[in-house]
Amino acid sequence: MSLSLLKSTLGPMPAPCVLIDKDDRIAFMNSAAEKILGEAHVTKHYITVLRQPFILDAIENAFAVEDASEDVFEERFTTTKNDQDYHYMVRCHKVAQTYVLLTFEDISEQQRVEQIRRDFVANVSHELKTPLTAMLGFLETLQGPAQDDPTVRARFLEIMSIEAERMNRLVSDLLSLNRVEATERIKPKETVNLSTLLASVVRNLAPIIERKKCHVDILDADQEINIIADSDQLQQVFSNLIENAIKYGEAGNKIEVTLNAPKYLDSIRKEGVEISIKDNGPGISFQHIPRLTERFYRADSHRSRCQGGTGLGLAIVKHILNRHLGRLKIESVLGQGSVFTVLLPTLRD
Ligand SMILES: Nc1ncnc2c1ncn2[C@@H]1O[C@H](COP(=O)(O)OP(=O)(O)O)[C@@H](O)[C@H]1O
Ligand SMILES: [Mg+2]
Repeated sequence: MSLSLLKSTLGPMPAPCVLIDKDDRIAFMNSAAEKILGEAHVTKHYITVLRQPFILDAIENAFAVEDASEDVFEERFTTTKNDQDYHYMVRCHKVAQTYVLLTFEDISEQQRVEQIRRDFVANVSHELKTPLTAMLGFLETLQGPAQDDPTVRARFLEIMSIEAERMNRLVSDLLSLNRVEATERIKPKETVNLSTLLASVVRNLAPIIERKKCHVDILDADQEINIIADSDQLQQVFSNLIENAIKYGEAGNKIEVTLNAPKYLDSIRKEGVEISIKDNGPGISFQHIPRLTERFYRADSHRSRCQGGTGLGLAIVKHILNRHLGRLKIESVLGQGSVFTVLLPTLRD
């Protein structure tokens, strides 16, 4: 195959392609390749353009194969543009007896997903290790120095049970997140009455409401708002939001849950209901607000841990609302309380 034929074949290809000749010079680059490697490289030695050692090895290996071989040598290649890294899988193979062809596949998105997965595993391990280490420490003391001291033993057992509860909550939240993600593409199909659902959520929170001596009022505009939803999942949404409002505020706080009448909502571009949960707690500083629904993100890490928080609640809320084609709006000013508003479409299309 002649060079001009190779050029006319590779030129319009959407994937970046680079052709290297037997004198180790760049014979051709298509415009997609120029976008990532820069222009005017033709006739230069390939080492001056592709400086990453593994790629150089792959090119040498490709040149070394028998002409009739179909061997392909793969390596990762990274470039930086505007402070952002781009990752490519580069495949090198011999063509037309005397050339080596490099094709670049953009794997940046795949790398990003892998990084998220690695961060998630690291986070989970850390979150589990902290209570586990504490429990192992107490166990050791109980088996040794505190063996015959009933007062110390009782106190340590109590702390251990708190730590075990924390691990239990974390595992339940992780399983919950997993279930929610698995159902995210399945349309919910139960008919749910929102007034009944909110009343039941508040009833189930009675023990913590009692403990914190706070007041939760449901301001209900319309008793007959029914939507198509997954009832258990919506319970989880409101339970987490109302529980947050209770646990992050002072004892004796007043929390208002407002169920508004359906109307056209700009932010979901259809008719929907807004349910807001307003507290007069500590509020959240503006720089934390956009990140609150990330897994394990806590605005006030110390306070959240003291309250037994896992940092997963709002991530679960976000996934559930995604499934319901709804949204979560967070408004808060530090020192002045917070309003979490759930927007849910009333009609499914
Ligand atoms: N009503 C609220 N008032 C103040 N801070 C809140 C409120 N709701 C949530 N937060 C903050 O957002 C973080 C994330 O909430 P969430 O995902 O439910 O996790 P957690 O398990 O810590 O409750 C909490 O750790 C807390 O810092
Ligand atoms: Mg929570």
